[in-house]
Amino acid sequence: MGKSSDERRNPEHQGNSPSGYREGLIFCGDPHGEFLSVVETVKRFLPVAIVLLGDLQPRQPLHVELSSILDQTQVWFIHGNHDTDSDQDFDHLFGSKLGDRNLHGRVETIAGYRIAGLGGVFRKKIWDPAHPTSRARFISREALLAHARRGKAGAVDQWRGGYARKHFSSIFPEEVEALSSMQADILVTHEAPSAHPRGFQVLDDLAVALGAKLLVHGHHHEDIDYVRDGLMGASSPFAAFGVDMGSFFAWPPAFNREQETQ
Ligand SMILES: [Fe+2]
Repeated sequence: MGKSSDERRNPEHQGNSPSGYREGLIFCGDPHGEFLSVVETVKRFLPVAIVLLGDLQPRQPLHVELSSILDQTQVWFIHGNHDTDSDQDFDHLFGSKLGDRNLHGRVETIAGYRIAGLGGVFRKKIWDPAHPTSRARFISREALLAHARRGKAGAVDQWRGGYARKHFSSIFPEEVEALSSMQADILVTHEAPSAHPRGFQVLDDLAVALGAKLLVHGHHHEDIDYVRDGLMGASSPFAAFGVDMGSFFAWPPAFNREQETQ
């Protein structure tokens, strides 16, 4: 913090290096093909970076959808379950020039925060996280790929010479285990933590293992402040927020309050 919102919006600052004057992160709820609110939010608040919380489904390649803000902020994302609904959904996201900005399965330092990402959803055909990883049907993408290539998956479950497209947005135990060995300040997920009626304890465990003090998720199309809304106690090891479709959540908290007053 330290600069007023007026300074952040001052046109004189346009074109400067983002790290030179901007601050704060904005997490954007599932776009589902609608990027106008993302563009308007960036142009209004000029965050250092945005993180899109999955289900982007861009109608054009993502770098084309967001071309008007690419010189104003860093764009990062995780994928959601709907990002593998069609070849177009898949290619416009993973095949775009921003395809390497997927935080899934990695930790990147963005706007001064170490941010870990876990995109996608749990699918029982891969792993039901209510059960231990030893009972997962497929521990990793490699295991599913080997299965598909042996022809056991059936033609309907194969895509582009590998496993079914939808499993590019499935979560595998090996991915969660690998992330658990890392350290991060913030965890972004598409699925919700256990305090949500359709959430998962394994995400709480992942946040704690990472040392993350903040978890932000999409998918459920609800703005949720887990402590404010009585879903979590204030002594929870991490704060959690859900972000609605077309909505956004800003961080750090002081930056967030500034957004709310404008
Ligand atoms: Fe979703």
